[in-house]
Amino acid sequence: MNTAIFTIVAYLIGSISFAVVMSRLFSLSDPRTYGSKNPGATNVLRSGNKGAAIATLIGDAAKGWFAVWLAVRLSGEYGVGTAGIALVAVAVFLGHLWPVFFRFVGGKGVATILGVLLGINVWLGLAVLATWLVVAFVSRYSSLAALVAAILAPIYYGLAFGIDELFFAVVAMSSLLLYRHTQNIANLMAGKESKIGSKSAGAK
Ligand code: G3P
Repeated sequence: MNTAIFTIVAYLIGSISFAVVMSRLFSLSDPRTYGSKNPGATNVLRSGNKGAAIATLIGDAAKGWFAVWLAVRLSGEYGVGTAGIALVAVAVFLGHLWPVFFRFVGGKGVATILGVLLGINVWLGLAVLATWLVVAFVSRYSSLAALVAAILAPIYYGLAFGIDELFFAVVAMSSLLLYRHTQNIANLMAGKESKIGSKSAGAK
């Protein structure tokens, strides 16, 4: 019962789309109406407002981190085991992808999975963040950096902690992230993906 409550709360936390919230706070257009139409930090950056993009990144990462941190912190008291924490991790991620507060039109999950991984283990999160930064710095493609980081995340987890429920949660989140980047993958392969800082998005 407690695990179910934690999972539902995590989904609701994940459903807060910080791209939309920050865009409203910064009086910007709705990110679902321009660029890639993705409510995420990369697309908010296309508005030209770096502050709003950074706030989106931090908000979307923080909600992932917070949901997992809360579940871990209260796990002993409420009898939420590793499987329960894995469910919470996936639930907050699903909330971001399909948010109940925004007609189930959510983002691609990059910042949120990073927050979740930081909540699971700070070194795991930092390793994935470092991977994203290196690929983004070299390629200038946010999406490519996210794809490489998502593919490596389960490998990092498996090598560091072995195969358990959280490993499968990381595999599930990474798979969903790849799925949500279908258009970006097509754009990358066609040489039409936009680089970081470019105002336009890749071909639709
Ligand atoms: O954060 C999502 C990023 O990997 C790609 O975003 O807007 O270029 O589709 P976007």
